[in-house]
Amino acid sequence: MKPIEEYVVSIPDFPEQGVIFRDVTSVLQDAEGLHLAIDLMQEKLEGLDFDVVVGPESRGFIFGVPIAYNLRKPFVPVRKKGKLPRETVSIEYELEYGTASIEMHRDSIKPGQRVVIVDDLIATGGTTEAIIKLVEGMGGEVSKVIFLMELAGLKGRQRLKDYDLDSVITYP
Ligand code: PRP
Ligand code: HPA
Repeated sequence: MKPIEEYVVSIPDFPEQGVIFRDVTSVLQDAEGLHLAIDLMQEKLEGLDFDVVVGPESRGFIFGVPIAYNLRKPFVPVRKKGKLPRETVSIEYELEYGTASIEMHRDSIKPGQRVVIVDDLIATGGTTEAIIKLVEGMGGEVSKVIFLMELAGLKGRQRLKDYDLDSVITYP
């Protein structure tokens, strides 16, 4: 089997000049790549006691659900504004390419629950920081944050230095 890095196609100058875009769809569209990505992310949780997986729309769903399913944990989605039907908590935050607003159902995390946040990629860390604020605002504890890919140059890890963060592939 190829190493996981070889399933990621890097696209220069997308979505703008000078950015190298690490495309997760090239991993997903290969059966071995998809399997390996889930397995390697899940390995990061070995031996960890936790209660719930939280993942953001949309790429966090792709990785969060299979990991939650495999480990028999619930999955709580973080959605873009206006999508969730019941009472929500929401937060506005800055993205690498603009601003966004995300929401969770107000009753989705119970006080004291230990949360693992799963996403495909960390760039600036803004999305994850916003999710952490929502989770902690509901009384949850963030046990760990895992990604398939980390863009180290964008310093998300420093932004989240108080948290246990792990990624499978690190790009400079
Ligand atoms: C991407 C990615 C992460 C986030 C990383 O999602 O899947 O969630 O950006 O960037 P950050 O670390 O700078 O916050 P995006 O908001 O583009 O949504 P999508 O998954 O629906 O494409
Ligand atoms: N790839 C995928 N998603 C992203 C990237 C990237 O390089 N940067 C910010 N979001």
